Amino acid sequence: MLVSAKKMLNDALKGKYAVGQFNINNLEWTKAVLLTAQELKSPVILGVSEGAGKYMGGYKTVVGMVNGMLEELNITVPVALHLDHGSYEGALKCVEAGFSSIMFDGSHYPIDENVEKTTALVKLVNEKGLSLEAEVGSIGGEEDGVIGTGEVADPDECKRIADLGITMLAAGIGNIHGKYPDNWTGLSFDTLEKIRNKTGDMPLVLHGGTGIPEDMIKKAISLGVAKINVNTECQWAFQKATRKYIEEGKDLQGKGFDPRKLLAPGFEAIKETVKEKMELFGSVGKA
Ligand code: 13P
Repeated sequence: MLVSAKKMLNDALKGKYAVGQFNINNLEWTKAVLLTAQELKSPVILGVSEGAGKYMGGYKTVVGMVNGMLEELNITVPVALHLDHGSYEGALKCVEAGFSSIMFDGSHYPIDENVEKTTALVKLVNEKGLSLEAEVGSIGGEEDGVIGTGEVADPDECKRIADLGITMLAAGIGNIHGKYPDNWTGLSFDTLEKIRNKTGDMPLVLHGGTGIPEDMIKKAISLGVAKINVNTECQWAFQKATRKYIEEGKDLQGKGFDPRKLLAPGFEAIKETVKEKMELFGSVGKA
């Protein structure tokens, strides 16, 4: 059964580790993430962007697929199904469809409007026992065609949003979705500390987990980051393994064209990436 992300993140915050959110794109992705979490006895969050939800045939399709896998693959570790960077309307749809966790990304609205919309959603998700992630200060990089600027969040605004009764808070600290540019100056730990001091026991979320050096990940966790989102790195792993399979001509040998064979190396590569991240984040054995 899907669970809200509340308990797993509060446990992570107390235990000084982070739970990974791995974005899913299809059946192979979902199965790879769930099986790895189960093998490593780690809690896990499946992230679904609005674009990926549409791609997979709609939110209800995603809920059906994930619930089916939890049962048929005997997944017993805590799993949350989470809308990633949701719009207000998307959030409502995912609550309706059976997601167990929602992110409302109101970071592009003026702060008062972000507060107003987040407040309305807090009420709704609380009634349903779901978790809610809110965002202050947009994350840089590109997510489904929306390009942020690598903004750094204002700690006072973080406090305002954190006090609304949300479960976890995403705050920009110089993190970016996708590849970090060569001239990237790293995460702003100074900002993270200020946010932490203002928001107290609120689990903080680090987006743009791809390509952040290990020491920065560890430091971020020590300063209150309890959820780390990874998307692009799994895509690269899948792409490289699939490219290798085709370049080696394996799709032309025997039944190598069978999608169950063609997608297998990419599937294994996602599993390996998820494993590395869970080990780095410290969530192995915490389920
Ligand atoms: P990356 O694609 O950089 O790993 O970021 C993922 C993310 O933050 C999803 O919200």
